[in-house]
Amino acid sequence: MDVFDAIRGRRSVRPETMDPDRPVPRDLIESLLEAANWAPSHGLTEPWRFVVFEGEARKALVEAAVSTLTDPGEPAPAPLDPRRLKMEQKMLVPPVIISISSAAPPNPKILEHEQIASVAIAVQNLHLAAFASGLGGFWTSGKKAFDPRVARFLGLEPGARCLGFFYLGYPTAPWPEGVRGAWQDKVQWRSR
Ligand SMILES: Cc1cc2nc3c(=O)[nH]c(=O)nc-3n(C[C@H](O)[C@H](O)[C@H](O)COP(=O)(O)O)c2cc1C
Repeated sequence: MDVFDAIRGRRSVRPETMDPDRPVPRDLIESLLEAANWAPSHGLTEPWRFVVFEGEARKALVEAAVSTLTDPGEPAPAPLDPRRLKMEQKMLVPPVIISISSAAPPNPKILEHEQIASVAIAVQNLHLAAFASGLGGFWTSGKKAFDPRVARFLGLEPGARCLGFFYLGYPTAPWPEGVRGAWQDKVQWRSR
């Protein structure tokens, strides 16, 4: 696939529209993670960190996410609580969920925003490779991703940050349309 076609055609495919019964082969997931690993980073710190959740392991991640629906110290929502059911129904459709984290900067020359920028590039690599492989992907963040209870569940080191979750699966709905404003509106030219 031509790189411009991949960039233009990549879309966020909603997790609810992914095929829950079609597993993503392990070697394909590995090839996407290898694409992610080619992202650039200041000082070659390679700060992207992923945890791949498949099968039953997804339920523990969803439980950690559900626990963020109540205040710290409060019990998690009850089994039939609509907020829990909504989150479970959404998060358990895709066969694969990958947590996205950035490592703490290893020295003062590397700034946190540089680490986060590199992780975002890694995720874009992964997403483009997923699209080129016929897979749908979706980066979601929201409050749950930034909650210390989720960081603890993921086992993040001090200074590391969870930046969200990447849902991965085969699409079952028509490929979404892309929408963008004109690139010209975001660019200034200074030639003299
Ligand atoms: C860092 C990041 C966080 C995102 N978080 C959410 C989210 O929490 N909820 C959501 O609906 N979409 C989220 N998205 C997906 C965007 O909605 C999506 O990329 C945007 O609508 C453009 O669509 P496209 O990816 O198909 O071009 C996120 C995207 C990025 C890059």
